Amino acid sequence: MEQVNFKKINSISDCKIIELPKIHDPRGNLSFIEQENHFPFIIKRVYWIYDVPGGQIRGGHAFKEQHEMIIAISGSLDVVIDDGKNKKTYSLNRSYYGLYIPSGIWRQMENFSTNSLAMVLSSTYFFEEDYIREYQDYLMHNR
Ligand code: TYD
Repeated sequence: MEQVNFKKINSISDCKIIELPKIHDPRGNLSFIEQENHFPFIIKRVYWIYDVPGGQIRGGHAFKEQHEMIIAISGSLDVVIDDGKNKKTYSLNRSYYGLYIPSGIWRQMENFSTNSLAMVLSSTYFFEEDYIREYQDYLMHNR
């Protein structure tokens, strides 16, 4: 069994939707993110998921350290969060809502709409050792 040391065990109640500014304009709306004003962590990396074939599931894992915010920049997707005791599904379909997920939460992304674009803002650079990819490992260390 993989050795996993969490810095802190979080629960799904620590996840939350952060509403970002939306500037209404007849020419088209505009939203933005400012590090200091909208973030509970320092952004070190941004990645995005796109061209997801119908029915595919992404991101079935937890992170030991990484905090993140997921935004459906375009289209929609569901994010299922799970702390080993409780589960909740957030349907993201607005580009001015970010779902904040702290470290130590199992999460899965599914139900991507055609042409959806999910942007993930992360508190860490990529490092594979931060992943817990086996659900049984996650449960073992989250009791
Ligand atoms: P992964 O995070 O496992 O994707 P998902 O959460 O959708 O299942 O990443 C898929 C692959 O991409 C994996 O081999 C690691 C690589 N990757 C990077 O190299 N850099 C990154 O910033 C990310 C997020 C993934």
